[in-house]
Amino acid sequence: MAFPLSPSAPLRLKPYSTLRLLALCSSNPLSKPRPFPPSAAAFAPRRPFPPPAAASRRRCFRTAIAAALRSGEAVEAKKSELADPPRGEFGGRVGEFRKRLKISEIKGGPEEGLGLVGQTLTVMGWVRTLRAQSSVTFIEVNDGSCLSNMQCVMDSDAEGYDQVESGSVSTGASIWIQGILVASQGSKQKVELKVKKIMLVGKSDPSYPIQKKRVSREFLRTKAHLRPRTNTFSAVARVRNALAYATHKFFQENGFVWVSSPIITASDCEGAGEQFCVTTLIPSSGETTATPIDAIPKTENGLIDWSQDFFAKPAFLTVSGQLNAETYATALSDVYTFGPTFRAENSNTARHLAEFWMIEPELAFADLDDDMACATAYLQYVVRHVLENCKEDMEFFNTWIEKGIIDRLTDVVNKDFVQLTYTDAVELLVKSKKKFEFPVKWGCDLQSEHERYITEQVFRGCPVIIRDYPKDIKAFYMRQNDDGRTVAAMDMLVPRVGELIGGSQREERLEYLEARLDDLKLNKDTYWWYLDLRRYGSVPHAGFGLGFERLVQFATGIENIRDTIPFPRTPGSSEF
Ligand code: 4AD
Ligand code: MG
Repeated sequence: MAFPLSPSAPLRLKPYSTLRLLALCSSNPLSKPRPFPPSAAAFAPRRPFPPPAAASRRRCFRTAIAAALRSGEAVEAKKSELADPPRGEFGGRVGEFRKRLKISEIKGGPEEGLGLVGQTLTVMGWVRTLRAQSSVTFIEVNDGSCLSNMQCVMDSDAEGYDQVESGSVSTGASIWIQGILVASQGSKQKVELKVKKIMLVGKSDPSYPIQKKRVSREFLRTKAHLRPRTNTFSAVARVRNALAYATHKFFQENGFVWVSSPIITASDCEGAGEQFCVTTLIPSSGETTATPIDAIPKTENGLIDWSQDFFAKPAFLTVSGQLNAETYATALSDVYTFGPTFRAENSNTARHLAEFWMIEPELAFADLDDDMACATAYLQYVVRHVLENCKEDMEFFNTWIEKGIIDRLTDVVNKDFVQLTYTDAVELLVKSKKKFEFPVKWGCDLQSEHERYITEQVFRGCPVIIRDYPKDIKAFYMRQNDDGRTVAAMDMLVPRVGELIGGSQREERLEYLEARLDDLKLNKDTYWWYLDLRRYGSVPHAGFGLGFERLVQFATGIENIRDTIPFPRTPGSSEF
């Protein structure tokens, strides 16, 4: 069965960055409107943006601070003004979305800011470093929009310089800075800001833990609320965002419908019993820790009385949205889920989280070959997207995190993936004569050491899809192959990470599925709606699940999965 994965259609996106820049130039009282560099101008509407009325109505942060500076008042005194914009006769109106210039908009693009030299610009961000020399002070400001800082050069004539002199502007502080963009004399950047005015927005206490010296990733995990202010974590956040965007883009361009699968569920999709229970039998207030066991209602037999629980039966956080996705695939044809999933497995490894995000496409009228083709096209698409759209961050990873990652990912985009059966993979591992911690024989589950050996050693970094696994080590819903001992399952393995994707063709034959549930002693009654899909217009269908944090690991070279998600949840760790 051929599943058409058409080449991606160009999307017509609003050129937001261009509009923002245009808005700033046209509404900034300090700068004369100037024509854009020709490439950007091609996107920009030939009229002032925003319309003059809207621009004058808007009372933005920038203007308020500038006013405060002029009057010499502190920002504190202006807070009420910021929160309370002027209202018309009939009350205030919700204004335009605040448009402010980001460093990425100044320094991005082929000219790296040179096209804006001579303009008066405003930057808001956090101080990364401050270096005072005899006559000038250099402040590196970062606003998170890109890896690059804006180098701000200031002499003692600048308005607000006293705040620098007094030490109020220090690493970690947030500042508002205005100046003229000039060509930089330094070799690290093409442009820098010659500061005319500076205003401290939020002071940083001297205890700020992320000072210039390098800090370990383990240490930063204990400062998860501040670590996005570092180069590594802001780059990971941007690449993660780009991967999420590319994920939706890929599926939308290929006609898939995004489905929200439930987070609370009564079924254990994978059947592995690694679920977190969701209950109101234990009070959720501050008294939780003081709850006596006797407070939990019991049946006459001394078992927990689930009928008194919120859902009147045991409920859990989902381990996968697959079963629900199947219901929509057998109505809408091709669907995907993208949401959080939870597993209570006690795995303290660099590739396991208790809370992770999963992308689960489900394709109707499709078999395992279609599934593997979709997984391959998807992975190549999102990797190409970050290579093309996150150049600066990828260069950073290439230099500091994993040397050669750009070449490795470029190969992933351009080369075919390897495909082999589980039986062949086992033979290959046995023949290797390598001493594995877990010995290999047909029927065993492949461990991370085996998976990594196959992708890293045997196929030299190429993603490998292993298919047709023994049915006894796979979930009940996978379609039985004709040999009676394997199922139409596939795992995609990638270097460093191991299993990135797990998928299968689903058992669409009612009698086979029922027999399998019986074999595994699973209660058919709880799967009644899942079995109905096979009773009413069943179709061959297939899908897969991709662990989003493992994708971020793969695309950035970050070693530990705990550094790919803002607030990792692992055994014994749920701070933040
Ligand atoms: O192989 P898994 O268990 O497959 C399923 O859940 C299927 N229901 C998917 C489907 O066919 N729709 O999990 C899928 C992927 C794995 O390949 C892995 O990348 C990731 O989810 N994963 C985890 N990622 C982080 N931490 C964990 N504890 C993970 N467990 C699985
Ligand atoms: Mg798996």
